[in-house]
Amino acid sequence: MVPTPLNSRRIAAALAGQPIGHDVQVFPTLPSTSDHLRELGMAGYPHGMVVFAEQQTQGRGRRDHRWESEEGVDLMFSMLLRPQVGMEFWPRLTSIAALAICRAIEACDPSLSPLVKWPNDIYFDGRKTAGILAETFSSSQGPFMVLGIGLNVNRSFFPDEIADIATSLKLVSGREQPREQLAILLLREINQLTAHWEHGYARIIDGLRERSALIGGDIRASVDQREVIGRAVDLNEEGHLVIVLADGSRLALSSAEQVRALA
Ligand code: BTN
Repeated sequence: MVPTPLNSRRIAAALAGQPIGHDVQVFPTLPSTSDHLRELGMAGYPHGMVVFAEQQTQGRGRRDHRWESEEGVDLMFSMLLRPQVGMEFWPRLTSIAALAICRAIEACDPSLSPLVKWPNDIYFDGRKTAGILAETFSSSQGPFMVLGIGLNVNRSFFPDEIADIATSLKLVSGREQPREQLAILLLREINQLTAHWEHGYARIIDGLRERSALIGGDIRASVDQREVIGRAVDLNEEGHLVIVLADGSRLALSSAEQVRALA
């Protein structure tokens, strides 16, 4: 079956009146939707532009990893944000996006229960289904953010190297998922949750606690260039991962670079 392409007009119409998604573009192929929007951001384009690609030739993940998706069946998109809140709140965007992705998946198919592998990844049964890349840039017209999301929606196969660690919504649910509807649900959630950058953020953290893949498990963390093993017990009010060490002391970790889950 030939996959149905995303339709920019339908998506924009479904988001009418919402700040993020007033301008939606769908490209058959781009090197990277995030790189494309970084260039537009530098050129002064406004808050709320959303760009999808049916295929990316240089999709990027965190830590210089590549992000590979299957043409026309997954979701690869980015949005340009000029948040009207103090920059101290901008790092909250990753938590906002993680909860938005979970809620959109749950609304799309209530049989699905995604978990957040703090802070950037969405998992099912120990396998990654979505990743978030939130980046901040400065330009002559002020700072801005590009939020990139890659979500494995209807892929049926993964290359051998990642078959044990990656999955798609279709593989988890056993059925094809409505990709465009999911994109719309996700952008609606992001519109709704970005109203709480500053106030009401505690509710976002509550939502992430309920969906945490790490809380209750042991993790290895690097703290002040020292490796420690601790039990993940909570997210604090800023969304940082709280761990308890063998001596009973508590540490709050702010960066994913510091953390690895132990099997
Ligand atoms: C990660 O898991 O490391 C983050 C992956 C983010 C991938 C998305 S796909 C759309 C956007 N464009 C990119 O080049 N990367 C992000």
